[in-house]
Amino acid sequence: MEEKLRQLQVEANGAIEAAQDVAGLEEVRVRYLGRKGEIADIMGKMKDLSNEERPLVGKFANQLKNEISAKLEQRRRTLGTGAAETEKVDVTLPGMQRRLGHKHPITQTMERINEIFLNIGFRILEGPEIETEFNNFTALNIPQDHPSRDAFDTFYLEDEFLLRSHTSTVQIRLMQKERPPLQAIMPGRVYRPDATDASHSFMFHQVEGLMVDERVTFADLKGALDIFAKQMFGTQTRVRFRPHFFPFTEPSAEVDVSCIICKGKGCRVCGQKGWLEILGAGSVDPAVFKAVGYDPRQYTGFAFGMGVERIAMLIYGVDDIRLFFENDLRFLRQF
Ligand code: DAH
Repeated sequence: MEEKLRQLQVEANGAIEAAQDVAGLEEVRVRYLGRKGEIADIMGKMKDLSNEERPLVGKFANQLKNEISAKLEQRRRTLGTGAAETEKVDVTLPGMQRRLGHKHPITQTMERINEIFLNIGFRILEGPEIETEFNNFTALNIPQDHPSRDAFDTFYLEDEFLLRSHTSTVQIRLMQKERPPLQAIMPGRVYRPDATDASHSFMFHQVEGLMVDERVTFADLKGALDIFAKQMFGTQTRVRFRPHFFPFTEPSAEVDVSCIICKGKGCRVCGQKGWLEILGAGSVDPAVFKAVGYDPRQYTGFAFGMGVERIAMLIYGVDDIRLFFENDLRFLRQF
């Protein structure tokens, strides 16, 4: 019987070495160590042995069992790594690239504008894109049926609601809630039913500003916008105010900066004029103060509003507003 065990030892070692995969090893385990396997068979026959022989054979059989178990485990490990090798991981392949995202150029421009006004004492306020007709028109001195509604016409929703056509609505909200002194800018998205082309979009972004206190003058407006223009477009930039009309300001002006491309000499971008229009502004109309319950004899103020896309197009040299909204990464990755 001892002879038989020695033979099993040799056989089992050979079978373990020969196994090519984990399934093959399992077969070997069952054949030798299984409940009906070779070793169990020998153990079953031990009762026929003499009293002297039985403990010796028993000991040997147990040793062999442990030895086969250990060898099976060892072989399983080498087969394990062997399997990984056959997957053929090519360590010379380039790794997977994860591109870092960044802020949209419109967001970057808006944040730059915000930062400049924050530095001169303005705070940032936001308001809802769905507004009331009162906040968007009536309180801003644009009564129903007044022709100047056309210039800011918008998308109407149910009842008195609409999509705001400018962020001036936030000026009204602020003045209704607080008393002067007030100094705030209002960045946000606005809507107008303009036909889309290279310079128009039904949706765009604005930053508006408002300052109200006793004795605020047009000179304060000029000072604030001069600082803005120089910080945004460069210290050599000059600013010019042209008389204009807005319902919510009196007097009103359109504001130009000296062309950032030709520095005022005249080029294609400024249409040979040397100036680029960047925003509208003026002294707050007394009618607006009345609408929010301020006494126009006590308070004066200024307001202004600019299109963020227009500014972004100027500083980045983009000639079509639609590029900002098409989500084409080949465009957006350039900023
Ligand atoms: N809403 C004007 C525009 O779209 C810009 C503007 C002008 C805004 C004067 C104002 C303002 O708040 O007071 O051109």
